[in-house]
Amino acid sequence: MSNVAVIGVQWGDEGKGKIVDWLSEKADVIVRFQGGHNAGHTLVVDNVTYKLKLLPSGIVRKNKVSIIGNGVVIDPWALLDEIKQMEKLGIKINVDNLFIADNATLILPFHIELDEIREDLKDTDKIGTTKRGIGPAYEDKIGRRAIRVMDLANEKNLSKKMDTILFHHNLIRKGLKKKTIDKDPLMKELIKISSTILKFSKPIWKEIEDLKKKNKTILFEGAQGILLDVDHGTYPYVTSSNTVAGASLVGSGCGPDTINYILGIVKAYTTRVGEGPFPTELKNEVGEKIGERGKEFGTVTNRKRRCGWLDAVLVKQSCIISGVNGIALTKIDVLDEFKELYICVAYKLYGKEIDYFPSAPQDQIAVKPIYKLMDGWLQNTKGIKKWDDLPINAKKYISFIKDFCGVKISSISTSPSREDSILIEDPFKH
Ligand code: GDP
Ligand code: IMO
Ligand code: MG
Repeated sequence: MSNVAVIGVQWGDEGKGKIVDWLSEKADVIVRFQGGHNAGHTLVVDNVTYKLKLLPSGIVRKNKVSIIGNGVVIDPWALLDEIKQMEKLGIKINVDNLFIADNATLILPFHIELDEIREDLKDTDKIGTTKRGIGPAYEDKIGRRAIRVMDLANEKNLSKKMDTILFHHNLIRKGLKKKTIDKDPLMKELIKISSTILKFSKPIWKEIEDLKKKNKTILFEGAQGILLDVDHGTYPYVTSSNTVAGASLVGSGCGPDTINYILGIVKAYTTRVGEGPFPTELKNEVGEKIGERGKEFGTVTNRKRRCGWLDAVLVKQSCIISGVNGIALTKIDVLDEFKELYICVAYKLYGKEIDYFPSAPQDQIAVKPIYKLMDGWLQNTKGIKKWDDLPINAKKYISFIKDFCGVKISSISTSPSREDSILIEDPFKH
């Protein structure tokens, strides 16, 4: 069996949770490796809906190991709350099925506040973040002043680290004319929860190495999507982590030979939450209809997602950047009631045709999509589980994506439910 990395190919919310949950039947270990509780991954199992933010989607299945890797930024209170919510739904979480990297960075309350302050200060150029403190926490990690899970184990050390991080943040807060942070109450709050967090904490790289030696199958669960990657996405309208497949290795401490198959999750149309360029966006009744049929509201912030036609130029580019081996195409059923479907196959930029998405923000806003018109299928695809049962025009739409992007279709998802998927190429058999 192979190890598989599941990566969002667009601007997030492609249906990664559903696919990870479906595939995790065949995996032993599920690893989150970047992002934090800005992610919202929805699983529907036997009519029960689970919305996971920090916990890997494998947590809902019995006898799986779920790992939160070092590349994740963890709000410890949000994590404990999520564990509680899951336990209410009957999911058992303990030290045998949840491991947390001891070197993962913590999100603290002042990160969340700073994220909010910055977003609320701006009249224009808002990023439209989830206000979960993700950006400020990653800034502290790269700035080498972050507090990490392991720091909770030693109060004296934690106190010193707290002085360093608060020195930095209180300078910023003074500049913003905000109340400075008191160290003692924050230390108290952290110490209160430290033993609960620490009991899950381990050197994850070592655990993964041991699991590999035991021939366990690993599924890496990406958050966000390639177009939100801090290097390759629509910068600055991105998240603060690398979301491409390579991040799964850095964010969990293993080498490139660990991953045998990169599965790119592609929604059959395009959505985006927050600000930033979106060439195929439909600010009309067609976009509204896609949003309604696809129930396109953010899992984390409940914001309405912006909707548009499939941008195959972006999908192709993202697949190349992340080395995608196969596509899991999701939400095809959402397009069931459209007579005509459009796929973006190139752009016009200042009168010239281009076949890629440029990197300068002013060009990303200026590109005009060139579309290929496809006939809709006007038939129900919801719940279909066999390729042969798909309407001919749905097959043509899917085959066009495969040929245009030059990437095989691994599976097709036809409803939010775990079992409603068509498997074409098993990513674990590579
Ligand atoms: P993620 O962040 O990539 O895990 O995606 P989200 O869970 O945020 O958003 C995807 C939404 O689409 C969720 O509400 C899923 O239940 C739903 N979904 C996933 N796959 C399908 C599908 O094939 N068809 C339909 N109609 N809904 C789907
Ligand atoms: P999943 O894993 C969709 C977006 C935010 C904002 C930008 C930066 O569910 O696909 P951040 O809070 O990360 O600093 O916000 O990134 N964003 C997502 N959009 N799905 C997500 O996660 C997202 N996580 C962050 O809306 O535009
Ligand atoms: Mg989501």
